[in-house]
Formats: sequence, C-alpha cells, structure tokens
Amino acid sequence: MAHFAKPEAGSWTEQYPELGTGPVSYEDSISPAYYEVEREAIFRHSWLNVGRVEQLPRKGSYFTRELDAARTSVIIVRGTDGEIRAFHNICRHRGNKLVWTDYPAEEVDGTCRQFTCKYHGWRYDLEGALTFVQQESEFFDLDKADYGLVPVQVEVWSGFIFVHLDPDNSETVASYLGELGAGIADYPFGEMTQVYKYRADVGANWKLFIDAFAEFYHAPVLHAKQAVSDESNKLQGYGFEALAYQIDGPHGMVSSWGGMSPPKDLNMVKPIERVLRSGLFGPWDRPDIGELPPGLNPARHRAWGTDSFVFFPNFMVLVWEPNWYLTYHYWPTAYNRHTFEGTLYFVPPKSATERLRQELAAVTFKEYALQDGNTLEATQRSIESRAVTAFPLNDQEILLRHLHKTARDKVAEHQARQGETAVQISAAS
Ligand code: FES
Ligand SMILES: [Fe+2]
Repeated sequence: MAHFAKPEAGSWTEQYPELGTGPVSYEDSISPAYYEVEREAIFRHSWLNVGRVEQLPRKGSYFTRELDAARTSVIIVRGTDGEIRAFHNICRHRGNKLVWTDYPAEEVDGTCRQFTCKYHGWRYDLEGALTFVQQESEFFDLDKADYGLVPVQVEVWSGFIFVHLDPDNSETVASYLGELGAGIADYPFGEMTQVYKYRADVGANWKLFIDAFAEFYHAPVLHAKQAVSDESNKLQGYGFEALAYQIDGPHGMVSSWGGMSPPKDLNMVKPIERVLRSGLFGPWDRPDIGELPPGLNPARHRAWGTDSFVFFPNFMVLVWEPNWYLTYHYWPTAYNRHTFEGTLYFVPPKSATERLRQELAAVTFKEYALQDGNTLEATQRSIESRAVTAFPLNDQEILLRHLHKTARDKVAEHQARQGETAVQISAAS
C-alpha cells in the first residue's frame, strides 16, 4: 500500500482517483443540519482516542471526557484488577451526572475507591457495579445487579486509550487504524511522559482545523514570522513539497522534511533557539530511543523531519525526528466550534536546561497553533457567507480532500443504514 515516491507522471492525488481533482465544497463545515448527522454517523460510530494510559497510573485512577459531539460524557477508570474500563457518566437512579466537581460541563480526574452520586448517594465500584442504594428497601423489586453503570467499549493501543460508543462495534482499534497505525505501533510512546498540553475553544468547524494541520503548504506563508526574515523569504520562494503522502482507508499521513534540529546555519534561527539549542522541531540534542518503527519516514529521506498521521475522525499523531511526538484532538461542540487540544510528549528532562529546551518547543508550537486557530475563525466566518462555494485544492492538500470525502462517505453510509433522507452535501457545488 505504501506510496513512497511521487510517480513520474501524475500526482499524489491522482494515485487515488476516487478523490477526484475538482474544486471541493465546504458546505460540510457550515451546515448545522449536516453536523447533526456527523455527530451520529461519525462520533458515535468511530473509535475515539480519549487519552493515554499514563493518565491512569494506579488502581482507582480515573478521568472523564465530555464527548459533546457524541452526546455523552464518559468515565475512564483503572479498576482494582488493573484493567481499564469506560462507562457512560450517568447515574442509574435518576440520571444525574455521576462524576464531576463544581461545573457539570467540565472534565475532571483523580483517584477514588468508588463513585458516589451527589444527588441521592448511590455508589458504584470501579468495575461499574452498583454497590449501595440509599433506603434500598423503599424501592420496588430493585436488584442492584440490574443497575450497574452502562459500559462503553474501550481498548488500549500502544498506550492510547480509545472508546467506541456503538455497543455493536466489532472492529478492534488495531484493525481500525490499519497499516498506518501498525507502522508506528512500536514507537516508544510510553517513554515520553513529560507532557505539555494546550486546549482552546476555536470558532471553526472541526474539519477546518484538521485541514490546517494536514497540509504544510500554508506554513511558509502563514507562519513566516516564526523564522528569521531572510529565511522565511527563502522558504516562501521554495514553497512546500512533502516527502510522501499515504492514504489507507479513512486515515492518511504526510511525511515532511526537517533539518532544523540543529539548523544547517545558525543564522536560520532566532537567538533564543541558538542559546537553548531548541526550536519548533524540538531540542537539538535528541534522546536515544533506539530504532524507529518501519512506518516512519516512508520515503527513507535523509532530510526527514516529521510524519503527521491523520487518524479519522479527530486524532492526529506527529512524530518528530528529534525523538518526541505531538498529538492533536478536535472535539466538535457545534457545527462552527470545537475544542482543540495539542499535547507535546518528551522523554522526561534530566536537567533544568533540558526542561527549558522542551518548554521552548512547547511555546513555539503554541505560537503556530494560535496563528492557525485565529485564521480558521476568519475562514469559518467567510465561508458561511456562501459567496464562494467550491474551493480548488492542490496536490499538497490531498489529505484535506480525503478527510472531507471520508466524512461525507460516513454520513452517507449512516443515512443509507437508517433509511434517512440524505442531507445534501456533494463533493463540489
Ligand atoms: S440520581 Fe444518582 S443517586 Fe439519585
Ligand atoms: Fe499551521
């Protein structure tokens, strides 16, 4: 399946004729009706990454996730047997949210021996069984065994915790993630436990933000100020061309050059980067993590810098050549809003200097993400005018074409299963 090199004739996009090459409609990012179908068709019918095993270090560790798009909140918990389980975050008595602290819509985490409902005090153990009912004898034929927490399918893949909200789902995460997942499954994600996390409420459709991170064509222009000016002029002149693109089922990846850790010429980078020996591409002095798994750097290019995996629907993993990685999540909250999460993972620093180098990579990343985020709010507002309805995507934008098509296909399949009338969104208008 791997397409390592652009063929002599044609393009990346033309290797996948089903993607087409025509202009693409963004009606799928501005239609409230279409978003309502996506919630069901995509977010209640796909494996969703909700976190990592390091977030549940011991028995009784738990965290909640607000999956607004899928219309639920889930509790992820490590049981007394060490197993990770997931449950809908709802009390079986009268439906109160079971695990929350001060604000019902906020996510929480912690460690506990049991979950106690704030409303009438029903209690559940870490395996989800109902263990205590206040004034139990007042109830009518109530068998506690019938009132355990409602389970959610959960699976751990390379330390990433996934949930699936369709109880009838029979596909494993490994099978779902396909060959692109298999190619990086052995990356030492578990060794990178130093975490820097950003979260932002962005006024743009979730797919628009994935679009911004699934192509680097915009980088030399939108992020020009991140480089010293001589360098950014040069970069704009060259433009951007990826080393490779791959598509497998609903997922895709782009492999890109790097070479900035360290830069060939120290004048290419800002003084603080020179002083700290770090920058966007990470600390220049990389930790030893052994052999990289075979799915990385598919073009086997000398100047490889990063691979960016787009796992449908809303999970991205970026592995960087200086031996660290990033994840992105995009959690829709409305047709024109989502919560973006960017998380950087490093091998724990061994000195204050190493820590500062990581911090510099983290704040540099934040600058980039802010530049992307507010551009996307501008895009969302503009496309909602419907003054323009179809947009030409170039060959470096193949993953965008693929993402929007995959989403449209999932929606159409779902509507066919339900026998619903399709919300009319075509590939191009
Ligand atoms: S709603 Fe939870 S105990 Fe009544
Ligand atoms: Fe960007």
